[in-house]
Amino acid sequence: MKIAMIGTGNVGRALGTGWAKKGHQVIFGSRNPHSEKVREVLAAAGANASAAGIAEAGAAAEVIVLATPWNIMEQIVESLGNVAGKIVVDATNPIGPGFQLAVGMTSSGAEQIAGWAKGGRVVKAFNTTGWENMADPIYHGQPITMFICGDDAEARAVVAGLAEDLGFEVTDTGPLSTARYLEPLAMLWIHLATVQKQGRQMAFKIVKR
Ligand SMILES: NC(=O)c1ccc[n+]([C@@H]2O[C@H](COP(=O)([O-])OP(=O)(O)OC[C@H]3O[C@@H](n4cnc5c(N)ncnc54)[C@H](OP(=O)(O)O)[C@@H]3O)[C@@H](O)[C@H]2O)c1
Repeated sequence: MKIAMIGTGNVGRALGTGWAKKGHQVIFGSRNPHSEKVREVLAAAGANASAAGIAEAGAAAEVIVLATPWNIMEQIVESLGNVAGKIVVDATNPIGPGFQLAVGMTSSGAEQIAGWAKGGRVVKAFNTTGWENMADPIYHGQPITMFICGDDAEARAVVAGLAEDLGFEVTDTGPLSTARYLEPLAMLWIHLATVQKQGRQMAFKIVKR
């Protein structure tokens, strides 16, 4: 697929590199697509990766993945222009001042993004684990769980496939409003990894019987 990876930080690199290595065409959308940093990202991602400005990357892709800070998210979505019909993957967490969730309970960051990305088929994914786990989601030979949600079943299926391409096992949690649960779950991961000092080599996995 043609994927626009918006943001070339920790998450953008992990996801974009993984998909490029799996044969997807990845266009990194950056504020500075010709920077030394982006050149390094492209060198690591290989032949299937390219870089462009944010609007250009989004326009060229079928799937747009958002991996930028929350405080500029509305501006980023605006700069993408018309996203109607495109799959917009929200990999972010709406973290505000004091490292608290800035949205919650009766809405979510993902739902806010859906309001800004008019006509976009928004799917929440990749927010509940650290970037290191996006680069390598296998623990003791077993895939860890990636939770996804969204209101468009076809878009969820596409994103589930993209998560599986990286090596995740997917749990589809249903409509986009379940992002209200997935965003606090991400805060639990961050709390365990940092405040509780369990480290970042840790992940959530659903087990069943
Ligand atoms: N870090 C994790 O493990 C993790 C896990 C799950 C979810 N998340 C979420 O994913 C998002 C990205 O996290 P990250 O760790 O990848 O962040 P990061 O390393 O700081 O990278 C963010 C990227 O966003 C782009 N960007 C565009 N406009 C920006 C602006 N005004 N200020 C700063 N950066 C701007 C930058 O790429 P260009 O310079 O190329 O424009 C930057 O590299 C956040 O919403 C975070 O909550 C992070």
